[in-house]
Amino acid sequence: IEESGEAVAEFAARYVARRIRQFSPNPEKLFVLGLPTGSTPLGMYKKLIELHKKGFVSFRFVKTFNMDEYVGLPRDHPESYHSFMFQNFFRHIDIDPNNVNILDGNAEDLEKECAEYERKIEEAGGVELFVGGIGPDGHVAFNEPGSSLASRTRIKTLNADTIQANARFFENDLSKVPTQALTVGVQTVMDAKEVVILITGAHKALALHKAIEEGVSHMWTVSAFQMHPLVTFIADEDATLEL
Ligand code: GLP
Repeated sequence: IEESGEAVAEFAARYVARRIRQFSPNPEKLFVLGLPTGSTPLGMYKKLIELHKKGFVSFRFVKTFNMDEYVGLPRDHPESYHSFMFQNFFRHIDIDPNNVNILDGNAEDLEKECAEYERKIEEAGGVELFVGGIGPDGHVAFNEPGSSLASRTRIKTLNADTIQANARFFENDLSKVPTQALTVGVQTVMDAKEVVILITGAHKALALHKAIEEGVSHMWTVSAFQMHPLVTFIADEDATLEL
């Protein structure tokens, strides 16, 4: 538990940077990092860029897999997760763009795209560290309430609450928010060797309570991580109001 969202970002960035550094730089075996979008991880990306600029961490031998992407939103749309990641992170660090993996929500065959993504993760040797955020309804990536906890990368229809929550990025116009997304499954994240969840704000307090103080439930998909051997929740004080 950290005092503020800023402190959560700082802690998370230092933690991720340390994990990358511990993994000896090795072009034969890249550090595989799973990454989220959303406003919560923004601060962590800013701090990671700072740490990179200070020479504390390099991403030359890091391979990334993003959690999710909207279906049908042009790749260069400012709100696509592709744009988000390049704008806010990748273009400021020394990562090889060939090592960046983001689901293509405009692929001709979306099911094939999802299966390929799972294959690419496997081929990379699995995810070393998956960093995630969660929605106020406890969804992780776009695994909406009711998603199977055994789910893998697939197409998901977004529920009304998520569309509502994301409308702020689309001029508050519900009709402009994409209704479907490609997302890694709960099991895809569970398969990572380590999981770190960032959670800030009083509006997520109920989700944190459901995540760690009640039973595992597919209605609060983040609760699945109770079954993971190595998971850390980094929360600000506001997010702990229901604990
Ligand atoms: C979206 C993303 C999630 C993210 C959630 C919370 O639904 N698909 O991966 O965790 O938003 O976003 P924010 O951090 O902006 O609250």
